[in-house]
Amino acid sequence: MTSREIRNKFLKFFENKGHTIASSSSLIPDDPSVLLTTAGMQQFASYLSGQVKPPYKRACSVQKCFRTVDIDEVGDETHHTFFEMLGNWSFGDYFKKEAIDYALEFLISELKIPVDKLWFTVFKGENNIPKDESAIDLWVKKGVPREKIFEFGLKDNFWGPTGPTGPCGPCSEIHYERTEKPCSLGKKCGPNCDCGRFVEIWNLVFMEYNKNEKGEYEPLADKNIDTGIGFERLTAILQNKNSAYETDLFLPIMEEINKMVVVEREPLKRIIADHIRGACFLIADGVLPSNIEQGYILRRILRRIIGQGKILGLPKDFLIPLAQKVIELYGDIYPELQNKQTDILTAIQKEEEKFSQTLEKGLKEFKKIARKDISGKEAFNLFSTYGFPLELTKELAKEKGLKVDEKSFEEEFKKHQEMSRAGLEKKFGGHGLGETRVFEKEDEEKIKKLHTATHLLHQALRNVLGKEVRQTGSDINPERLRFDFSYPQKMTPEQIKKVEDAVNQKIKDDLVVKMEEMDKDKALKSGALSFFKEKYGEKVRVYSINDYSKEICAGPHVERTKELGRFKIKKEQSSSAGVRRIKAVLE
Ligand code: ALA
Repeated sequence: MTSREIRNKFLKFFENKGHTIASSSSLIPDDPSVLLTTAGMQQFASYLSGQVKPPYKRACSVQKCFRTVDIDEVGDETHHTFFEMLGNWSFGDYFKKEAIDYALEFLISELKIPVDKLWFTVFKGENNIPKDESAIDLWVKKGVPREKIFEFGLKDNFWGPTGPTGPCGPCSEIHYERTEKPCSLGKKCGPNCDCGRFVEIWNLVFMEYNKNEKGEYEPLADKNIDTGIGFERLTAILQNKNSAYETDLFLPIMEEINKMVVVEREPLKRIIADHIRGACFLIADGVLPSNIEQGYILRRILRRIIGQGKILGLPKDFLIPLAQKVIELYGDIYPELQNKQTDILTAIQKEEEKFSQTLEKGLKEFKKIARKDISGKEAFNLFSTYGFPLELTKELAKEKGLKVDEKSFEEEFKKHQEMSRAGLEKKFGGHGLGETRVFEKEDEEKIKKLHTATHLLHQALRNVLGKEVRQTGSDINPERLRFDFSYPQKMTPEQIKKVEDAVNQKIKDDLVVKMEEMDKDKALKSGALSFFKEKYGEKVRVYSINDYSKEICAGPHVERTKELGRFKIKKEQSSSAGVRRIKAVLE
């Protein structure tokens, strides 16, 4: 059965049982407390928690997911970063019995998986939440021998919430017995044994609780069902393969890698296949490599595999044909890959160019230190000076049979973050730390540009919306600018376009940005705008962009507007009563 047929069979099966087929949501969830979409239920979270009345009682989907928790496991037979999850949901409609009935019917009658191969887990009860006796009864009633049902606690058999709060509940998993060979660890083993005999394929969550802000589990008024099948694992089983890398989900990508490799290392080839697939999907959903949030995850996986490419003797630019393969393989199911083809290839190429500048130097440095286990400080130095993600350092160390002190790396990382936050790193400039801020320098450049763009935006808003527009706040990080201003209503799409065009015109005009120091009174008299929440001294800096914009500001700014690139407003929303908020980027 091809992977395409499996997806279709799943959706058809549940559609026939009254489920509405929902399309996959983006890998970037709406909920800002969660970085990535890690499960199919996320797009339905407000239905599951009872906050919003769902438009239908039953749904099913094939959802794009991305998890970083398993990143160290990737390279084995069953773990991935990006994966697809098949799921079915009941919003206050059916509960445990039907969820169990449907799952068994689909696996046994539709997919013809021998029932003997299936094993089960249930929640054993913990933290005042009782043991799931009814799930055990239901499985047994379906003919499952009691000894094939294993009990686990909160860690394994209680699911969610995805963020700090939200819907959750005990779960019951279906595991597949991959081999009848006895446990290699010599145990009397079952599901969740580390020997790899079993693989979890389907998780049925009986959502009965909402975890609130106090950390309490409140019973939900309506009980829900949330399930998820690991699609890669299921495909491997149905295609009779040990791993998804041998199935039609990955084979063409693996073949492309095989055409290029000089040194054979199966796990590394798998990691490359997994990560390039994930990277393409992330970029298609609007992520670009950076040092924060989703962008940082993308950067980590790309740099990791660029480094691995070296170990395997892959040619420069090897990621491009692989990305093209991913787009070819998945583009008709996920059209965003085709639509964003240029963005995907450009972003990957740019990251490769950027990283290769320091990669060689970093590898030399690694050679120097790789005579013994790598300390956290050394790993951190590789990260901060040469842009090596920890995963890459670990890989290189593993090649040499060395260990990396990850714990102390994390400590160094945290220390550094705190220092940056407090703005202390400037003080270290004279101590040699200045040169090691490869990332920060890039970021500072970006911030500088966004700063100048903010001035252009402020003026453009005043020209388009009227002089009553006043800045009430501003926040800039390397990824975007955020600008709050007084204005009573939502901007129309035409107004947004006008503002964007005005800013882009000023960028195109390549205006000179001039700085003058003068007395504050004189500056205000000259008509310079000022944002009074900030405190200025008596002498202030006035930045003017030709005669278009004039503002009191501490800077720094770019010298000419052409440096900014293209300005784009990503969001216009309400910030508070009478205050609008714009988020914009430079592309
Ligand atoms: N939400 C459940 C999971 O991700 C189904 O395992």
